[in-house]
Amino acid sequence: MCLRSATQHLCCLLRENMGMVGLVSGGASGLGRATVERLVQSGASAVILDLPSSDGQALAESLGERCAFAPADVTSEADVQSAVSLAKEKFGKLDLAVNCAGIAVAVKTYNFKKDLPHSLEDFQRVINVNIAGTFNVIRLAVGEMGKNEPDADGHRGCIINTASVAAFDGQVGQAAYSASKGGIVGMTLPIARDLAPMGIRVITIAPGLFSTPLLAGLPEKVRSFLARQVPFPPRLGDPAEFAHLVTSLAENPMINGEVIRLDGAIRMQP
Ligand SMILES: NC(=O)c1ccc[n+]([C@@H]2O[C@H](COP(=O)([O-])OP(=O)(O)OC[C@H]3O[C@@H](n4cnc5c(N)ncnc54)[C@H](O)[C@@H]3O)[C@@H](O)[C@H]2O)c1
Repeated sequence: MCLRSATQHLCCLLRENMGMVGLVSGGASGLGRATVERLVQSGASAVILDLPSSDGQALAESLGERCAFAPADVTSEADVQSAVSLAKEKFGKLDLAVNCAGIAVAVKTYNFKKDLPHSLEDFQRVINVNIAGTFNVIRLAVGEMGKNEPDADGHRGCIINTASVAAFDGQVGQAAYSASKGGIVGMTLPIARDLAPMGIRVITIAPGLFSTPLLAGLPEKVRSFLARQVPFPPRLGDPAEFAHLVTSLAENPMINGEVIRLDGAIRMQP
């Protein structure tokens, strides 16, 4: 139970994130959007990096002066560099990069009824957006973070990636998605080691089932079936709970090089 009143809690948040500048890929929808909202509400500034076709511009306008939209594809060097530059130009620096942009396909390795293999193009697209896109944001964001004045601990910034429980408990049809999320898990420690001398931390969150537009399209029957698979609490996660973990990780300098499941203890069935 929270012992602080809502007002005290908000004041505390305001102190904790005041002045921080974050860049959130996939920030126009779902987990990324909740992260952008929490950052801005808690006193930070945020750049939404999302596709030009997304709701990024409208969201940025609704959140006010401490939010800006950078239309960008995470797989493009020029697009992501522009988004990093926008953070610098508009808010003066970059402290936090949160990778939420991601895509999925659900296809079996081989369709024996149709005598059809999994499309190689689909496999490569998921790997490219989820792994190379995440790495592209990391490698360009840390160039800017490295210019920050370190705090007393030598800390200059923080990267938070989004994998999935599918990195560990991949289901039927998830070869491409699980491989891509496993790649994000696998690069967390080596990148944390690469960046440690500059005081930049790298952490990955592996969410379970969250109520985002990704799942909103499913029939209510399927959503409640999925919710019942979660041991506790037996419901889909709220994107605000993901955003809460993002800001907690950003605030805690001792967490680094780690992958954290955020899943109500679910272990996905085959
Ligand atoms: N929702 C869940 O239950 C769940 C569970 C585990 C992991 N995840 C992961 O969390 C992340 C966010 O998922 P979500 O549910 O919020 O999905 P979402 O579809 O609501 O949001 C994803 C956002 O990423 C953007 N995006 C996609 N491709 C992009 C690209 N090439 N460049 C820039 N932006 C791009 C989309 O426009 C969208 O705004 C994804 O990586 C997803 O795999 C979600």
